[in-house]
Amino acid sequence: MALSRYNPCFVVTLLVASAVLLSFFALKRVYLESFTINDVSSDRGVITPSASGPQTGHAASVLLLVDRDEEGDDEIIMKFKKTQHTKSLKITVETSEGGLRFEPHPKFRQGGNPVRSTFVGQGTDHTSRTEHDNNGRRSLFSSPSSSASSAGRMLSHGVQKVEDVTGWENVTCDACKIIVWTLKRMVMQKNTTDDIIKEVVTLCRVLHIESNRVCDYVVRQYAVMAIGVMQNTVLDPDDVCGVVLGDECAHPFNPFAPWNVTMSDTPKPPVTPHVKPKPRSPTLRVLHLTDIHLDIEYVEGADAECGEPLCCRVYDLNPAPNKSRRAGEWGDYRYCDLPYNALGQLFQHLADIRDKFDYVIFTGDIPAHDVWNQTQPQQLANMERLAKMFRKYLPDKPVYTTPGNHEGVPCNSFPPSSIPGESMAWFYSAYMQAWGYWLPDSTFSTIMRGGFYTFSPYQGLRIVSFNSNFGSSLNWWLFVNTTDPEGQLQWLADVLQDAENNGEKVHILSHIPPSEVLDDFALNYYRLVNRYENTIVGQFHGHTHTDEFEVFYDINNLTRPVGVSYIGGSVTAYSDTNSAYRIYTIDGNYNGSSFAVLDYTHYYLDIQLANDIGKPVWLKEYTASEAYQLPSLYPEDWNNLIYRMKDDDDLFQKYYKYYYKSAKHKSCTDAICKKGYLCQMKQAIPRAPELCYDL
Ligand SMILES: *[C@@H]1O[C@H](CO)[C@@H](O)[C@H](O)[C@H]1NC(C)=O
Ligand SMILES: *[C@@H]1O[C@H](CO)[C@@H](O)[C@H](O)[C@H]1NC(C)=O
Ligand SMILES: *[C@@H]1O[C@H](CO)[C@@H](O)[C@H](O)[C@H]1NC(C)=O
Ligand SMILES: *[C@@H]1O[C@H](CO)[C@@H](O)[C@H](O)[C@H]1NC(C)=O
Ligand SMILES: *[C@@H]1O[C@H](CO)[C@@H](O)[C@H](O)[C@H]1NC(C)=O
Ligand SMILES: *[C@@H]1O[C@H](CO)[C@@H](O)[C@H](O)[C@H]1NC(C)=O
Ligand SMILES: *[C@@H]1O[C@H](CO)[C@@H](O)[C@H](O)[C@H]1NC(C)=O
Ligand SMILES: *[C@@H]1O[C@H](CO)[C@@H](O)[C@H](O)[C@H]1NC(C)=O
Ligand SMILES: [Zn+2]
Ligand SMILES: [Zn+2]
Repeated sequence: MALSRYNPCFVVTLLVASAVLLSFFALKRVYLESFTINDVSSDRGVITPSASGPQTGHAASVLLLVDRDEEGDDEIIMKFKKTQHTKSLKITVETSEGGLRFEPHPKFRQGGNPVRSTFVGQGTDHTSRTEHDNNGRRSLFSSPSSSASSAGRMLSHGVQKVEDVTGWENVTCDACKIIVWTLKRMVMQKNTTDDIIKEVVTLCRVLHIESNRVCDYVVRQYAVMAIGVMQNTVLDPDDVCGVVLGDECAHPFNPFAPWNVTMSDTPKPPVTPHVKPKPRSPTLRVLHLTDIHLDIEYVEGADAECGEPLCCRVYDLNPAPNKSRRAGEWGDYRYCDLPYNALGQLFQHLADIRDKFDYVIFTGDIPAHDVWNQTQPQQLANMERLAKMFRKYLPDKPVYTTPGNHEGVPCNSFPPSSIPGESMAWFYSAYMQAWGYWLPDSTFSTIMRGGFYTFSPYQGLRIVSFNSNFGSSLNWWLFVNTTDPEGQLQWLADVLQDAENNGEKVHILSHIPPSEVLDDFALNYYRLVNRYENTIVGQFHGHTHTDEFEVFYDINNLTRPVGVSYIGGSVTAYSDTNSAYRIYTIDGNYNGSSFAVLDYTHYYLDIQLANDIGKPVWLKEYTASEAYQLPSLYPEDWNNLIYRMKDDDDLFQKYYKYYYKSAKHKSCTDAICKKGYLCQMKQAIPRAPELCYDL
């Protein structure tokens, strides 16, 4: 559910999904009209069609897809807006004689200031999410079998963001069904992929979804996956729209058979109370890096406001048209990824402080966000480049990693082996080559099966890395069959039982936080965290690019915390954050150590400062125990912190500042915004409103 967080890869995926779908739509007696609204100040008005297309200088332009039925009546099926000045003007259009009526968005009428961050930030998302949750959507706890609506809500959040970032209006339910029916029919008719691509590229250009060159490339990147899914999916189009748009759209039938991993018959052992290690016990220090997003085509001084999903690049205007648009030397807060020099500098810095950590966990996302133009060789070259940096700068530090969604080509695409004609072997074998360097051979068979593995680096500690792309709603291949791809979660359940039998403690690594995966995946995982609460003592993730934590609760007693997820801040500054990494202190390694997380310190690079003084300076940002006055870092301490933040706004504001890694961000002072953040900390699973009732 926390896909409310801005995920650029996701936005582009949705754009292309919409574009691919739309192309089929365009074939069906549909024509495109554009209108210009001259007067948005009145509450209601009439839009007159203009022959010349969207014009600048007006308050808003609207693009409509109009379906003319047999009687010659126009029916507006889908509407898109491209705004010039008014970013949140929602336009409701009905046909009527002599023109089209429109209604400004209530926010606009109130004279509010609805800017992009309305959606990108957390406040509004959480509000609508919380309201949704309380308005009759069934809870995941009480209704474990309904997969559809969580994914639906995630995707409709995404649709809001698409609207926001690019100026697209909402994709409505009816339109979705017509489009998907048409798409399915066209795929069945065996139109060639080239024909489909051609249609979509045209549409993408006509609608100005992206720049022409991005249109040309991105459609090619995603068309194969979209068509492949349509060829293989058993879902009928209504089901697809139910998944995409939620319960309100399609019949509340769960398109995917609910699935459970088989739990061991061994009864859950009594919960062992958390006991702090004796003073002066040995400790391990673990460096956590995540979301590097290296851009080898980053160029200092290039245009940072290029209008594409990724800027500051060799293809962008250089010098930028205006001084304030120049890409910074050490990174940029706008839509720009990590420059190569910054990565080199980070590794030099890590080499300098190598006495401060014993091993490294890296939770995924290596390449830049140029998701419209990536190839397998490029992705693999980036992975190898990064693995080499680790070997060169930190030769005696083992590195344990997990696949990010950006490692796929295209982004998010991880077809399970059950999809005919598709294979991820190209990735798994290279992954094994690059990261297997630090792993025992016993991990190779599961890496080749699905990019997951386990091994024991120290007596009594087991590291488990799983491939969260098999739980991601953005991995469209799962629309064909969501049931535990490659048997990965069943494998996890078995590994956890073995660990319990052997008295081992487990650290879990995965890229996407468990709160953001599909319902069945999330619920099965939550149950494992419940069942093995004595065994799982660390969970480490990335993907959100923000610094956060999420608490798991006892399914039978939602006030009792049983686990905590640590979500590390990204190395890339994409977008509006600083670069960061953290170092955990872990109990161990000695006979009988708990391997519990005892504390961590977050470090950051202030991008603005680095660019101003022309020199990157990594600084300590905070240490968790000090900043949040935590006596220890067990799940109950994090749970208490949530309630302490509820009552102590200064404490919450501190968390909020660190969430964005001390980069400037709009304030979160009203109760609704704050509740949204607090609720997120309690929801390590999608759709569990009962966890937030007392916030
Ligand atoms: C978009 O449409 C869906 C389905 O009809 C609806 O649930 C959602 O609230 C709409 N979103 C916006 C931003 O209007
Ligand atoms: C799609 O296939 C149908 C039937 O084979 C054909 O009539 C139609 O022209 C094709 N559409 C495109 C855009 O190529
Ligand atoms: C795609 O990448 C290739 C190789 O890096 C480059 O030459 C080309 O200009 C890129 N195209 C776009 C649209 O980014
Ligand atoms: C999965 O397990 C839960 C809890 O044990 C149970 O309520 C549910 O019926 C099971 N679902 C299936 C499909 O087996
Ligand atoms: C330069 O760009 C910034 C950011 O886009 C803008 O606010 C400013 O008005 C521009 N200045 C000039 C002189 O064009
Ligand atoms: C989905 O995959 C599971 C596990 O591989 C299999 O048991 C099930 O039959 C598949 N479902 C469909 C509809 O193919
Ligand atoms: C639920 O957990 C809380 C906190 O651990 C505990 O105080 C309470 O007694 C538990 N309730 C039940 C019914 O077990
Ligand atoms: C660890 O401690 C246990 C029990 O305290 C003991 O039986 C075992 O021999 C110890 N192992 C080592 C390697 O010291
Ligand atoms: Zn990322
Ligand atoms: Zn990611």
